[in-house]
Amino acid sequence: MQGAFQVRSEVYRKLLIAPIILRQTCRAETMFARASHNGNTENSLANSTTRKPINVLIVDDEETQRAPLAAMLDAWGYKAEVAGDGQEALEKLAAFSANVIVTDLMMPRMDGFELMKRLAADGNMPPSIVLTAFGNIETAIQTTHDLGAYWFLEKPIQPSALRFLIERAASQSQMAEETERLQRQLQYQGVLVDMVGTSPPMQDVFSTIRQVAPSMAAVLVAGESGTGKELVARAVHQLSTRRGGPFVAINCAAMPETLMESELFGHEKGAFTGALERRAGCFELAQHGTLLLDELAEMPSGTQAKLLRVLEDSHVRRLGGKAEISVDVRIVASTNRNLDEALKTGDLREDLYYRLNVFQIVLPPLRQRLSDLPLLCEALIGGLNRKHTCNVTNVNDEVMDAFQKYAWPGNVRELRNVLERAVIMAGEGTVLMSHLPYDFGVPAGSRLPAQVFEPDCVRLPVGTTVSDAEKALVQLTLQHTKNNKTRAAEILGISLKTLFNKLKEYGAAEAADGAA
Ligand SMILES: Nc1ncnc2c1ncn2[C@@H]1O[C@H](COP(=O)(O)OP(=O)(O)OP(=O)(O)O)[C@@H](O)[C@H]1O
Ligand SMILES: [Mg+2]
Repeated sequence: MQGAFQVRSEVYRKLLIAPIILRQTCRAETMFARASHNGNTENSLANSTTRKPINVLIVDDEETQRAPLAAMLDAWGYKAEVAGDGQEALEKLAAFSANVIVTDLMMPRMDGFELMKRLAADGNMPPSIVLTAFGNIETAIQTTHDLGAYWFLEKPIQPSALRFLIERAASQSQMAEETERLQRQLQYQGVLVDMVGTSPPMQDVFSTIRQVAPSMAAVLVAGESGTGKELVARAVHQLSTRRGGPFVAINCAAMPETLMESELFGHEKGAFTGALERRAGCFELAQHGTLLLDELAEMPSGTQAKLLRVLEDSHVRRLGGKAEISVDVRIVASTNRNLDEALKTGDLREDLYYRLNVFQIVLPPLRQRLSDLPLLCEALIGGLNRKHTCNVTNVNDEVMDAFQKYAWPGNVRELRNVLERAVIMAGEGTVLMSHLPYDFGVPAGSRLPAQVFEPDCVRLPVGTTVSDAEKALVQLTLQHTKNNKTRAAEILGISLKTLFNKLKEYGAAEAADGAA
């Protein structure tokens, strides 16, 4: 105890810490000791024999600062390593896996800003505490905000405050490691966030997601409709340090240019006809989070050029506005188009493609990963049971066999739709063939005629148009009323005149069909 105190006194002397701070430290340490005695585990993190030691990297160009800091941390039970600037820190980190970084900002060669920027871009930034010169609070706040530093501390350092922050940062680092370990374990069981799949192509997709998620890099997700592109984007967000921030998705298809730009960048009041209020765009809404640009290839080319500019300089200007707003947003873009084709036709600008294509994740169609079907059925049935308050347990072998033989042109979304109907019909127990649509698995071309009449009901297979469905219902109601049109109109909830008009329309269409 005496020895430890001597080490601390020596360290404090070297750090030129005022006596008042020393007094605060002693009080703080008594407090820590008491908390530890009361079973508070936080303070015992550094000394615990069951946990691996907590590594702290101290980055400071002044030997007289970093050496005593390291000695102090060693005395507290941490494993401290030192580096003289950002460059050396990166070299040290190759062999020393730091749980926490304590870094100065102003340093030669590579400063603290650049160091943190590089670590964040690679997705390797452990919780970091930035040391700032006295009176430089604004820069410090900016740094914690822009670079996602854990916290900042003004010099001269108060040991109690530093110790408190390191303990907090270390427990955050341990929590992140634990989450990572659990995620890896789940992945072996075929689960990644909300996605399931044990097939080799899906395991590859999961590995890529886990690799890219912690970085800031843009991700381009390609795949047929219904393969799970949005789920990939959500998984990237969930597994990144941005998970506490917003996830915003915007569908770029079928939107006129002005509306699209207003959705993306926001607008000021009066920017265009109908802009009655100032409105923040998706970039602002997704601040410190992730923005999914869904159906990117459908975005108007002019908007793609503006989007590229925003991605290059991380600033947006609302339509009709003057101020540049700084944005920190991670982009995930998705498309169900063939990328080569979209580039060739010019629907996707090449420059934007290269900016976004840092990582590309291609989701295989379901027909190429039929071995995922059992796990997908289990996961989807679980969700559908919750949605419809049902208690369905599984699908029987015959159903699974039919699923395995089917090509699933609508991919997982189609599977989900088939199962949703089956879960509602079965209510509980096992899904049987009778719970599937009557023509499940029959190729579209060889299906029965669109309407199949049964007494007092119309069955409408998927693929029936709204006008055919309406016609079928009108005809059946007339059969039911034995052609009493007044009664049929009443049942249908339309006026007699409307019913006559419809019958005229059907007659004309049939006449036209006959003539063709
Ligand atoms: N691997 C998976 N595990 C569990 N559910 C999945 C998986 N893939 C897709 N789904 C489910 O399938 C449905 C479609 O997924 P999603 O909306 O992500 O597809 P998409 O590729 O974005 O489709 P689109 O191109 O039509 O927008 C969703 O209900 C989703 O939950
Ligand atoms: Mg989608």
